[in-house]
Amino acid sequence: MLATQHIMTMADLTPEEVTAILDTATSFAEVNQRRIKKLPTLRGRTVVNLFFEASTRTRTSFEIAAKRLSADAINFSASSSATSKGETLRDTAKTLAAMACDLVVVRHAYAGAPQILAESMDAHIVNGGDGRHEHPTQALLDLYTMREALGRLEGLRVGIIGDVAHSRVAGSLAPALRMVGATPVFVGPPTLMPARPDVLGAEVAWDLDEVLPTLDVAYLLRVQFEREARMPFPSNREYAKLYGVSAARLEKLPAHAVVMHPGPMNRGVEISADVADSGRSVILDQVEAGVAVRMAVMYLLLGGADSGAAA
Ligand code: CP
Repeated sequence: MLATQHIMTMADLTPEEVTAILDTATSFAEVNQRRIKKLPTLRGRTVVNLFFEASTRTRTSFEIAAKRLSADAINFSASSSATSKGETLRDTAKTLAAMACDLVVVRHAYAGAPQILAESMDAHIVNGGDGRHEHPTQALLDLYTMREALGRLEGLRVGIIGDVAHSRVAGSLAPALRMVGATPVFVGPPTLMPARPDVLGAEVAWDLDEVLPTLDVAYLLRVQFEREARMPFPSNREYAKLYGVSAARLEKLPAHAVVMHPGPMNRGVEISADVADSGRSVILDQVEAGVAVRMAVMYLLLGGADSGAAA
């Protein structure tokens, strides 16, 4: 069980709860290797995916996770929901509450949208990414992937590289790393750096080539062109030259270090295709971890061992 009703930010969790989620996810990862990947744990519970922004990984993995735990999973997207006819988020929340939903995963362009839902219904709310704010289950699956790849979390030095300013992934990953005793280092051009990186507990560096040899993880962020009114750098080519990770830059990382990316990737901008597909990349491991970690989150929020059969 978790003490919190909702997971809207990493601050909703204690370090002990983060470890409990990762350990529970390890059990579910084993279930996901079986031929029959289904448990009766959340039978009779209803999970709603309420996505007002595009998503491949988060929406799909929450749906698969819910179904593997035998919950009923329902998907709403912005285009198919009544918000496209002017309904407010609060009214959408009250409508879902009237249908007795148990857990709502929400993705929204506006920071704070999960809080509005939580104020308007009794269900558990999980933030699937709100604006530039946070994406906590992404950070949890990233921690899980790092622990699997490197055998530990404490003491790791993780370069979070690129468009930090627009990144809800960085907004959750930096505090998550601090919670487990790792060090986040933001690296990127000044135009893509938040005004107060210290608030997120991160070190800051500008020269990627200097930082790479000190890292255990090179975590690349997508340049979010859709959130910028104008280009934050002169050209994609210049960005790739200064901050993209190419095969030549990969050589500067220590031999044990891995490359991560939350997806979707801009191949040829922040990451070259050969690096994305290389043996140093654990990007598809992150996707795989997403299912097990989201099973763990739902299992622990909806009652853990009290909710029925465990893994
Ligand atoms: N990492 C992530 O949130 O990907 P999606 O936008 O595809 O969900």
